[in-house]
Amino acid sequence: MIPVVVVHGGAGHVPRERSEKSMEGVCSAARAGYTILRGGGNSMDAVVETVTQLENNPAFNAGCGSVLTNKGDVEMDAIVMDGKTLGSGAVSAVRNIANPIQLARLVMDKTSHVYLTAEGASQFARSMGIPEVPPESLVTEYSRMRWKKNLRPDANPVECQMGKMGTVGAVAVDSEGNIACATSTGGILNKMEGRVGDTPCIGSGGYADNNVGAVSTTGHGEAIMKVTLARLILFHMEQGKSAEAASDLALDYMKSRVGGLGGVVTVDPQGHWAARFSSLQMIWAAAQNDTLHYGLYTGEHFTQSIDDPH
Ligand code: GLY
Repeated sequence: MIPVVVVHGGAGHVPRERSEKSMEGVCSAARAGYTILRGGGNSMDAVVETVTQLENNPAFNAGCGSVLTNKGDVEMDAIVMDGKTLGSGAVSAVRNIANPIQLARLVMDKTSHVYLTAEGASQFARSMGIPEVPPESLVTEYSRMRWKKNLRPDANPVECQMGKMGTVGAVAVDSEGNIACATSTGGILNKMEGRVGDTPCIGSGGYADNNVGAVSTTGHGEAIMKVTLARLILFHMEQGKSAEAASDLALDYMKSRVGGLGGVVTVDPQGHWAARFSSLQMIWAAAQNDTLHYGLYTGEHFTQSIDDPH
């Protein structure tokens, strides 16, 4: 088995002045995940490390850098899934921790549940010794500026969101053939307090099954949930479609059926992978065979050695 990790930094349109930093962030996160896989590590450790790096990077809408609710607060959602056991862990509407993806993994590893939300999730984080961070440490100047702009009565936050950045996520296959996915988000711009999107919902924000493959999604959560985008892609793969064809079919369906745009990273058990999107752009990177692949626009695909100085 040839290990692979595929990463996305959100579907939408990346403003020119932010594209270099965002691309560097996604490539560096892919390198970190691949370093774990190359050292014989497992796919779950690889996707959690990859997404943790993106949560810690203020250029992305997850962890520090998350978009704000209509009240001006950060509320974050995350999911992990293990393709060997179909075990999953998810959290939603968590406010004052730096890395929701690590909390989602603890839900999977340390409880008999799949999904914890809001204050219950925070209590569980405290019981696991996860440090609380001041809420303002997760808020950037950029997210505050976008929040203010979208408080205006004529604002269209969904349109504005698709014009900027989305969720982060990763899928990986390790040398044992085990598959995992991880997805994390601040949600959508100026969302109602308490709104939960697709990201923590199993089959929508992600899905992993060693028998079929794994998907992590990004885009408009209300549309993604209506078509259970991640599981729909795996359904098409079960019917014999490639990772790429299945991703395109499901994204086309989401666009025609519910008018939703988004993007996905997908792998199959043989390590074939795809990074596909119906939005204008999606920052993505993949690492396999000591080669880093990356791109931003449809059809764009650059490569370099994983060990090249960067
Ligand atoms: N896809 C992220 C969200 O809609 O919350």
